[in-house]
Amino acid sequence: MWKLGKYTIKGKVVLAPMAGITSAGYRRYLNCFGVDIAVTEMVSDMGLIYENKETETYVKYQKDETLTGVQLFGSKPENLSKAVLKALALNPEIDFFDINMGCPAPKVTKTGAGSALMVDPVICGDIIRAIKQVTDKPVTAKIRLGYNEINFIEVIKQLESAGVDAIAIHARTRKELYSGEPHYDLLKDLRKKMSVPLIVSGNIYTVEDAIRALENSGAEAVMVARGGMGNPFLITQIKTYFETGERLPDPSLLEQCDYCLALARSMILEKGELTAMRIYRTLAPKFFSGFAHSKTLRKMLATSLTTYDSLEKMIAQFKKDNLNT
Ligand SMILES: Cc1cc2nc3c(=O)[nH]c(=O)nc-3n(C[C@H](O)[C@H](O)[C@H](O)COP(=O)(O)O)c2cc1C
Repeated sequence: MWKLGKYTIKGKVVLAPMAGITSAGYRRYLNCFGVDIAVTEMVSDMGLIYENKETETYVKYQKDETLTGVQLFGSKPENLSKAVLKALALNPEIDFFDINMGCPAPKVTKTGAGSALMVDPVICGDIIRAIKQVTDKPVTAKIRLGYNEINFIEVIKQLESAGVDAIAIHARTRKELYSGEPHYDLLKDLRKKMSVPLIVSGNIYTVEDAIRALENSGAEAVMVARGGMGNPFLITQIKTYFETGERLPDPSLLEQCDYCLALARSMILEKGELTAMRIYRTLAPKFFSGFAHSKTLRKMLATSLTTYDSLEKMIAQFKKDNLNT
């Protein structure tokens, strides 16, 4: 058990923020697999300040049992604290706020936000301080190893002295974007050097990955990001291992079919069929990667998916051909 501000967290699985993916419908479904803490997609501070209707939908989710933080991105302490107040006015039930200090996308960094904040560790602290002045909800930060130079220790120190409640670190630099091996070697015993809980992120695809990342860093939790896309049961496997020591087998093809259809329904409820199925062209094929004879299905899902009915039909045909069901 560990603490995120006033909350007691039992387990070790955080559902990572992923723009364009971890919407309310996605989170609602994955949370059922045993997520301890979830984070929204990143939300623009200026979008909230200017009352952009689309931006507002990101924070107006319904509360569920999993603690959920709203992730904000921005570059100025005063705007981020204003955005926190706007978000709370729209949804007083937000459990905590997370500040994006890791996004490498040029459209974000050119405004001084995301990973560009790490260039100036002092401003990272100022942001946390400003937000803490307007809310008593916990405030976390998600960082990388650094922007150009590796300076995460300096950034962590500034965040801690500003009163941050936990820090998530993606063990890559801005330049590395999302590829290559994350540098867990640089996170060795990091938690011992810190005064607040640590969450580690980068290539968590298996229980073994989670064990290694936690043992090496001493972190309280791991973030499941791409590893959970098309494999929600990974969350249950990690959770179960750390609760009981049991290593659950990987899901069967039949189970993957069910998970794929169930997530689609959750996303359709949230976004409507047209939008959900457009996003699902990216997500659905991932449920079948690694399974024999799934190449044609994956290609069809990626290119021809239009409705829930078409998804069901493609999966039914695949089951008939491969499982005799
Ligand atoms: C499609 C996509 C969108 C992402 N969006 C965000 C985001 O909005 N905020 C954020 O802090 N990190 C974001 N990330 C980074 C993830 O939260 C995570 O730290 C990163 O993918 C490393 O974990 P992985 O290697 O296990 O995927 C995103 C990653 C991906 C792949």
